[in-house]
Amino acid sequence: MMKKILFVASEVVPFVKTGGLADVAGSLPKYFDKEKYDVRVVLPKYACMKEAFKKDLKYKLHFYMDMNWRNQYVGIFETVYEGVTFYFIDNEYYFNVSAPYSDIVNDAEKFVYFSKASLCMLPQIGFKPDVIHCHDWQTGLVPAFLDHFRKNDEFYQGIKTVFTIHNLRFQGIIDKNRARDIISLPEYYFEGQYLEAYGCVNFLKGGIVFADKVTTVSNTYAEEIKTKFYGEGLEALMNQKAGDLVGIVNGIDYTDFNPETDPHIVKNFNVDNFRKEKKKNKKALQEELGLEVDPNKMMIGIVSRLTDQKGFDLVNHVMDELCQDNIQIVILGTGDKKYENSFLHYAWKYSGKVAALIYYSEPMSHKIYASCDAFLMPSLFEPCGLSQLMSLRYGTLPIVRETGGLKDTVEAYNEYEKTGTGFSFANYNAHEMMHTVRYAEQIFYDKKRDWNKIVEHAMKKDFSWANSARLYEELYETL
Ligand code: ADP
Ligand code: GLC
Repeated sequence: MMKKILFVASEVVPFVKTGGLADVAGSLPKYFDKEKYDVRVVLPKYACMKEAFKKDLKYKLHFYMDMNWRNQYVGIFETVYEGVTFYFIDNEYYFNVSAPYSDIVNDAEKFVYFSKASLCMLPQIGFKPDVIHCHDWQTGLVPAFLDHFRKNDEFYQGIKTVFTIHNLRFQGIIDKNRARDIISLPEYYFEGQYLEAYGCVNFLKGGIVFADKVTTVSNTYAEEIKTKFYGEGLEALMNQKAGDLVGIVNGIDYTDFNPETDPHIVKNFNVDNFRKEKKKNKKALQEELGLEVDPNKMMIGIVSRLTDQKGFDLVNHVMDELCQDNIQIVILGTGDKKYENSFLHYAWKYSGKVAALIYYSEPMSHKIYASCDAFLMPSLFEPCGLSQLMSLRYGTLPIVRETGGLKDTVEAYNEYEKTGTGFSFANYNAHEMMHTVRYAEQIFYDKKRDWNKIVEHAMKKDFSWANSARLYEELYETL
């Protein structure tokens, strides 16, 4: 029998994206066995979604939903994209916004509404999923509401839930009184064994407590979050839930990220011809960004949200030293002002050598993945990380800190065995990072054959969804 699955997520490619969550929620559904799984996705109908898709959304129906003392309009729109059905929840008051997230005061209510509406729409549209698969704190209340609905409404009985943690740092924490005001659940849900943590209401905790299974996006992160350093205050809960917690490493969309067919890059290439062709992209990017044009110069890329999570204080700390080396550094990202400004400063100080692109651009990200020789990702913590997978796919060798998914997906070069797909270091230490970058430089300039071997290994690795989608299927079968 066909199993019905509903993904609930606050951002989904290709419609709206701020980070890797959107990549996962948008690409994974395509990779389930279509004979056995009918996977659909629900997301908010944000005003800031990509314009090109707005005209394809078809109005389906609307109804009104109770949010305690309010009664809110819920419109449902639908589109089918690459064989997957996507539902969009429409409400101007919540989703007429210029970015998916703002501050927690607004976001909390917005995602209470979204979570509840995702459940309330189901009898209306006549879709009863076997499994609802929720992602991150924004959807943490879905399993909690479902727990309540099941007790009063036969329609919801038998529906199981999976909750995936993409990032334990973001939990959706609000004051209890505010929570009582916007979350229409009986009082006991706000107690310590359920939604409450440290005196507040915690949306993520709701997802973890009420879901039938909890997953996170790599094996190493699944272990790390049971410790104090990575547990973000929820380590005791993670240990308690250990029996229902599994790590399933992310994949990426191998069609969208394919150096052989990528329309965003100047010169397509593959594992057989990258030695000659890949650097044509580098040359074009050097020209485009006003860097010194020399295709033989080592170029290191960064494409990232500019936040503490990603280890940029390490980069800042040794940037002057690194810039003495024979390298170029290209940064694409937005985020904390301190990092935006410091990278702009270095681009000014080392003009021709450093480019700081403080904006969001998918085409530019592809150019960087394709053009660079190495990709720097020294994260403080990294649940999975997709950028290093994209880099591997384009033969751009990741230089990473051994944490979370970075540890699980990048194999350090071993100069004796001639194995590996990149470079890594263990401790969160700026000089350890710098030594690893310099080691990579040395291989790049002095041992080109070895470097190219590593590129070959990297490009031959398979981080498509093929493997991980099967693991999710197996998980659904256990429910
Ligand atoms: P996270 O989800 O923590 O931000 P991931 O590595 O999982 O990190 O995913 C980041 C995703 O966002 C990747 O697809 C990356 O290419 C993309 N991305 C990040 N910053 C930018 C940017 N400024 N422009 C384009 N894409 C970006
Ligand atoms: C989060 C994590 C990142 C992960 C992504 C998708 O944003 O920070 O490591 O790859 O989610 O799961």
